[in-house]
Amino acid sequence: MQQPITPDADDLTLALALADAADAIALQRYRAVDLVVETKPDLTPVTEADRAIEEALRALLAQARPDDQVLGEEYGGARERRGRQWVIDPIDGTKNYVRGVPVWATLIGLVVDDHATVGVVSAPALGRRWWAARGRGAHGRGPEGERVLRVSAVSAMADASLSISDHVGWPPDRLAALTGAVWRSRAYGDFWSHLLVAEGAVDVAAEPELNLWDVAGLVTIIEEAGGRITGVDGSPVLGAGSGLTTNGRLHDAALALLGA
Ligand code: IPD
Ligand code: CA
Ligand code: CA
Repeated sequence: MQQPITPDADDLTLALALADAADAIALQRYRAVDLVVETKPDLTPVTEADRAIEEALRALLAQARPDDQVLGEEYGGARERRGRQWVIDPIDGTKNYVRGVPVWATLIGLVVDDHATVGVVSAPALGRRWWAARGRGAHGRGPEGERVLRVSAVSAMADASLSISDHVGWPPDRLAALTGAVWRSRAYGDFWSHLLVAEGAVDVAAEPELNLWDVAGLVTIIEEAGGRITGVDGSPVLGAGSGLTTNGRLHDAALALLGA
């Protein structure tokens, strides 16, 4: 599946090629018995694969888009509200990656003048990839084939399926209000909660603590699938520090339950 990266490739084609490069590195070290894992100052784990993927993607972007800014989880960068910026989470779900749980992905977003315009999420251990460019729809591919993504039509919270990452970081009672209002709650976790909403398989996903790199690659996919993503306080998601993804119909109700 590896595609050549050429400077004249459009942004989505480039992002898909970056994802191919990331997959190759990530799969080579996944479940390796000698995988090197360190603890970062924020006490979260980082592996040699997280760093190698971000290094490789930065090198490819330096060749293909030398004038663009880059922000990544492992090698930093400041959020740019003007111009073009690639935002990378080399492995979202590092704790899963380390333990051999297949729910992890590389998240690649292109933000132009503070608007997410391209997103690619690649989860090779799940055999899944999701991608979108503004105005061109959202697409997904898995073992069952490729399809255009569309959110669900569920309009009552009592019928809704909710996915979170975990119970940590929520203000008292807010998560309980949400889980108490829905039909079903599961913690599929990380990027997957939000992309299951884009697929129409889940109706609401929420996380109280997220960084820009955790969401930049998701936004275009969710919105092109007809969904809505904001902070849990309803603010624009790129600066929110949290994430609420819904099928759109349930968004205001979810915000109300979260006290926004
Ligand atoms: C984590 C995931 C998770 C979120 C955490 C993040 P990482 O990212 O995005 O969904 O709840 O706050 O740290 O560290 O696995 O890239
Ligand atoms: Ca992440
Ligand atoms: Ca990460």
